[in-house]
Amino acid sequence: MKRIAVFTSGGDAPGMNAAIRAVVRAGLYNNLEVFGIMRGYEGMIDNSFKPLISKNVSNIIQQGGTILKSARSKEFMTKKGRKKAYENLKSKEIDAVVAIGGNGTFTGAKIFQSEFNIPFVGIPATIDNDLCGTDYTIGYDTAINTVMQAIDKIRDTANAHNRIFFVEVMGRDAGFLALRSSISSGAEGVLIPEIPTHLENLHSYLETGFKKMKSSGIIVIAEGDEEGGAYDIARKVRKDFKDYDVRVTVLGHVQRGGSPTAFDRVAASKLGVGAVEALIQNKSNIMLGTKCGKVISVPFDIAIQQEKAIDQKLYDLLTILNY
Ligand code: F6P
Repeated sequence: MKRIAVFTSGGDAPGMNAAIRAVVRAGLYNNLEVFGIMRGYEGMIDNSFKPLISKNVSNIIQQGGTILKSARSKEFMTKKGRKKAYENLKSKEIDAVVAIGGNGTFTGAKIFQSEFNIPFVGIPATIDNDLCGTDYTIGYDTAINTVMQAIDKIRDTANAHNRIFFVEVMGRDAGFLALRSSISSGAEGVLIPEIPTHLENLHSYLETGFKKMKSSGIIVIAEGDEEGGAYDIARKVRKDFKDYDVRVTVLGHVQRGGSPTAFDRVAASKLGVGAVEALIQNKSNIMLGTKCGKVISVPFDIAIQQEKAIDQKLYDLLTILNY
């Protein structure tokens, strides 16, 4: 193996740059040439490759976003698009690829590898943390901290007015970000897609818990909850609690940006180096992940299953902590 390529794809996540840096530096350390592919699979299709040397990845460990840009490529979902991508990889003499992204990225990598037999190793990076086989994905910790800091601020104004806030956080179909940020911000409730939402429970909190405290209430809602987003829930609640002062905050893409936490930078560095080492050892069709702090490898097939379980104990904590 002489030449590898690296790209970022799907929703960007803080720490992607730290991972790119680690891949480039580990590649060079092992006497490999490293190419960056711009805009994920889009750049693979339209031949947007650039050689990366050590100084190209200087001063990026602390930056959010991704210097290689990102995209969700529709063309790569077609056989014709993938064939173009393969021809470009071949013409550039790329022997193996490191893919940094989430579910969609690894689904694409798995199909591509089965068709064209180019080794791929994945690095999990998404604020959603919805990949199986890894405790954490890059960007998740930073996003939790971003949400926590936002809720701390919301709490100040909520307290000042005795208000209830419904705060909507990202996570597509997953409640990991909502759950952890609700615990860390001392929220009074959390609604997530993995656990059926019973609006009666919310009602009973509003009737008893909120009346008892009467200072403020924060309910965190994962965007994928089956009862709807924060605006939908607030509308339903307002009908039954007309005298309550209810407000909604949708945090949106603020959660995707910002400088990565130390945790995400270290994880990205370990996984980036690990990905290059895995390719050198002829491993492929795998995502690297972390379990109890150790780097482990997970077949793409397993990583992209949609059933990563929520930590029920963490969910139950919220009830105890709000007693
Ligand atoms: O997958 C990451 C994520 O931020 C999800 O939490 C969210 O649902 C989605 O991406 C938003 O995607 P976009 O940036 O394309 O609107």
